[in-house]
Amino acid sequence: MEPIEKTLAAEAPREMDNLIPAEDSTTGSDPMVAPSTDRPRILVVANQKGGVGKTTTAINLGTALAAVGERVLVVDLDPQGNASTGLGIGRNERKVSAYDVLIGAALIEDAIVPTKVPGLDIVPSTMDLLGAELELASVQRRSHRLRDALSRMPRNGRKRETSESEEKMTERAYSYLLIDCPPSLNLLTINAMTAADAILVPLQCEFFALEGLSQLLRTVERVKTSLNPRLDIQGIVLTMFDQRNKLSDQVASDVRSYLGDKVYRTVIPRNVRISEAPSYGKPALVYDHRCAGSKAYMKLAAEMIQRERRLRQTAA
Ligand SMILES: Nc1ncnc2c1ncn2[C@@H]1O[C@H](COP(=O)(O)OP(=O)(O)OP(=O)(O)O)[C@@H](O)[C@H]1O
Ligand SMILES: [Mg+2]
Repeated sequence: MEPIEKTLAAEAPREMDNLIPAEDSTTGSDPMVAPSTDRPRILVVANQKGGVGKTTTAINLGTALAAVGERVLVVDLDPQGNASTGLGIGRNERKVSAYDVLIGAALIEDAIVPTKVPGLDIVPSTMDLLGAELELASVQRRSHRLRDALSRMPRNGRKRETSESEEKMTERAYSYLLIDCPPSLNLLTINAMTAADAILVPLQCEFFALEGLSQLLRTVERVKTSLNPRLDIQGIVLTMFDQRNKLSDQVASDVRSYLGDKVYRTVIPRNVRISEAPSYGKPALVYDHRCAGSKAYMKLAAEMIQRERRLRQTAA
């Protein structure tokens, strides 16, 4: 296997220059730059590699957070709509979607659909999102569309202004937003990174998982310098870990030696119950809360909350 440093050094974010136009750069007066306890914490689950566990992580981490009393909103920003399907939201329940919010045809509060998990809601996705990139190409602040839409959300338990619309938002105040991204570093993912406080990267324990990690991390740096200075790395979660496979161990130790404590101690095992759950429109944690995968996602939520506390203290 190539050492991870070599893999990382070999890549460069070539398409980024097209994605981040100069006029989109964050201005000093942006109210979302300062850390605030009045807003929910916004976490983006991203990795341009397909099938690494982004959606599974968004769904089950969201469920685990809701299970410990947090109010959580999942934003499905992937045209595939797997987070919406996996949380049991049928096509006919997606009347207003993330697409409408992005193009400015609807307010975020009108796109929210409750799931069967108490405390967990979702902004569903539709295939319309496929066209969003093209439609937003000539729009001003195209990288900030989601951030601007989310900027009106108050944090759970806190009241803000009292207009009718604000009342509606306060009823639906969240402590965490989890944005599920498509497997691409496209304008949708850039919008998510621009809106987020921190990124959570699922990394599948297989050799090719390491390819592309440097591009992702460089993209994070680029977004940080030009669009969203507060973007942090919440952590990297190793997914689909297979105890019987030596490569899983090798990948895990390579990633840990390169990224140190950015990698969560919790590892998500490969677990058949996790892969079965979406076809029932249920999170694994609801489908079988005792399986190894569900237990791992509960542990991940606990670890993540701990990190959140630390990140907030540092930011304060
Ligand atoms: N820990 C796990 N054990 C077994 N199967 C898993 C696990 N995590 C995810 N899967 C399965 O692997 C597949 C890919 O997972 P998932 O959809 O979460 O990845 P993704 O990164 O969101 O994919 P995409 O890039 O297409 O959006 C799914 O079929 C899912 O059920
Ligand atoms: Mg997905």
